[in-house]
Amino acid sequence: MTILDLFRLDGKTALVTGAAQGIGFEIARGLSEAGANVIIADLNPEVGEAAASSIGGSFQMLNVTDSGAVRDLAAKLSSVHILVNNAGIVRNTPAEETPDDDWKAVMGVNLDGVFWCCREFGRRMLDAGSGSIVSTASMSGLISNHPQPQAAYNASKAAVIHLTRSLAGEWAGRGVRVNAVAPGYTATPLTKRGLETPGWRETWLGTTPMGRLAEPAEIAPAVLYLASEASSFVTGHTLVIDGGYTVW
Ligand SMILES: NC(=O)c1ccc[n+]([C@@H]2O[C@H](COP(=O)([O-])OP(=O)(O)OC[C@H]3O[C@@H](n4cnc5c(N)ncnc54)[C@H](O)[C@@H]3O)[C@@H](O)[C@H]2O)c1
Repeated sequence: MTILDLFRLDGKTALVTGAAQGIGFEIARGLSEAGANVIIADLNPEVGEAAASSIGGSFQMLNVTDSGAVRDLAAKLSSVHILVNNAGIVRNTPAEETPDDDWKAVMGVNLDGVFWCCREFGRRMLDAGSGSIVSTASMSGLISNHPQPQAAYNASKAAVIHLTRSLAGEWAGRGVRVNAVAPGYTATPLTKRGLETPGWRETWLGTTPMGRLAEPAEIAPAVLYLASEASSFVTGHTLVIDGGYTVW
C-alpha cells in the first residue's frame, strides 16, 4: 500500500448531486477516475445523462428539495459509500427586497437538500458502519460577498458548514465522516451572469489574492481527499479553496 493508494476508490459507489455540469461534474469525473462507480443525481436529465455517460457513470433524476424523492432514491440504491452534496443555487436580491419564494428556494436546495441527503444516505452508511460525506459549501459561508447581495445564499452556506460539524460529531464514532469544501469564485454557469455584470468581475478578481477564478477541476481533488481514506482521521472539517480570498 502506497500513499497514493489511499486516494483510490475502487469498489466504492459515489453519488454526486448537482453534477450535470460545473463543479459537480468535475467532482464526478475525478471520483470516477479514482475508481468509483459514480452516480450523477441532478434535476437536469438532458445534460445529466450525457455527463454521466461521458465518464462511464450513471444518471438518476433527483430534486434534492424533495425529501420523499431523496428517501426513495436512497432506498433504491443498495449501498452508497460516498455522498457528495453539491447541488446549489443562488439568488442575487437585496435582502430588504427578497421575496419569500427566493429565500425558500435557496434554503430548499442549499440547506434542506443537503440535510435530506445526509439523513437518508447517512442512515444507511451508519447501518453499514462506514461512509464518507462531502458537501460543497462555499467561502460565502465564512465571509459576506460583495458587491452582489446574496444574504440567503451566504446564510445557507454558513449553515452547511455548521451542519457538517454537527453531523460529524454525531456520527464520528459510527464510521461515518462528514466534511465540506468551501470554494471561492469558480468559473461555472452559476457565476457566468455575475462575470458579465459591470463591476462584479473586477471586484471578484481584485479581492482574490491569486487574481483569478478557480476552474471547476481545481475543486475536485480536495473532494477526492475528503471522500477517500487519505483523510481517514478528518471529520467536521471545511477545506477552503479560494485562491486566498479569505486571507484578506
Ligand atoms: N461557482 C462558484 O463560484 C461557487 C463557489 C462556491 C461554491 N459553489 C457551490 O458549488 C456547487 C456547484 O455550483 P456550480 O457553480 O457548479 O453551479 P451550476 O449552476 O453550474 O451547477 C449546479 C447543478 O446543480 C443542479 N441542481 C440545481 N438545483 C437542483 C436540485 N434542486 N436538485 C438537484 N440538482 C440541482 C443543476 O441542474 C446543475 O447541474 C453549489 O453548491 C454552489 O453553491 C459554487
